[in-house]
Amino acid sequence: MRKTLIAGNWKMNFTVTEAESFFKSFKIQKKEGVELLFCPPFTDIPITRFFLERSSILWGAQNVYPEDNGAFTGEISAPMLKDLGCSYVICGHSERRQILGESDELVARKVKAVLSHDMIPILCVGETGEERKEGQTEERIGSEIRTALFELSKEEAAKVVIAYEPIWAIGSGKAATPEGAEEIAVFIRKTVKETAGKKASEEVRILYGGSVNGDNMSHFLKQKDIDGALIGGASLKPETMIDIYSKA
Ligand code: PGA
Repeated sequence: MRKTLIAGNWKMNFTVTEAESFFKSFKIQKKEGVELLFCPPFTDIPITRFFLERSSILWGAQNVYPEDNGAFTGEISAPMLKDLGCSYVICGHSERRQILGESDELVARKVKAVLSHDMIPILCVGETGEERKEGQTEERIGSEIRTALFELSKEEAAKVVIAYEPIWAIGSGKAATPEGAEEIAVFIRKTVKETAGKKASEEVRILYGGSVNGDNMSHFLKQKDIDGALIGGASLKPETMIDIYSKA
């Protein structure tokens, strides 16, 4: 039985003061079988931990560097995140792939590093609007997944959360259709099966991300192969996240 995961990705938003006021107005009724996660910027992780550590809500990071320590100015390692109580780390978000030039190979090293430190990677995959028009969606997503899982054992691969985030849907207000997202989720499971075997393909959790809000979220969650959502813009409003979680 795959556990539903509702994950908020704050991206580069909220100072510590702003994060503090978010959590002061964030109150939920715990639900069995649904994990709620916040991925704030690195600088907000300690204050997030302060507010969430006595609750069932989890916290994680938006990025990581694949080495444990050393001369990597400006980077943050997996042991540092683990020490701050992070349970999940987003790897290979399309904004990092596009703006910061992260390659599939670098993303694969990040996924491995996160797993080696007993945290769960949320591997983001997705196609641009152009690739979609050209019919290259499966080719792009397939290679992102194969590269990320290549060095992992089957047991490790089964733990990875894969977030399908079509780039054209992120922050655009135009989400994919639930049926369209399900079709890609089926393809993702098939790719995991070919790469890491049947068991891993049945255990891997798949999220949809891209303009998810309180109105459309439940349509995605109703799909057989979609196990949760990765939420950007809508995760910045406490009342929206409370609404989303209560509907999950
Ligand atoms: P969005 O972002 O919900 O604002 O579209 C999703 C994401 O990039 O993870």
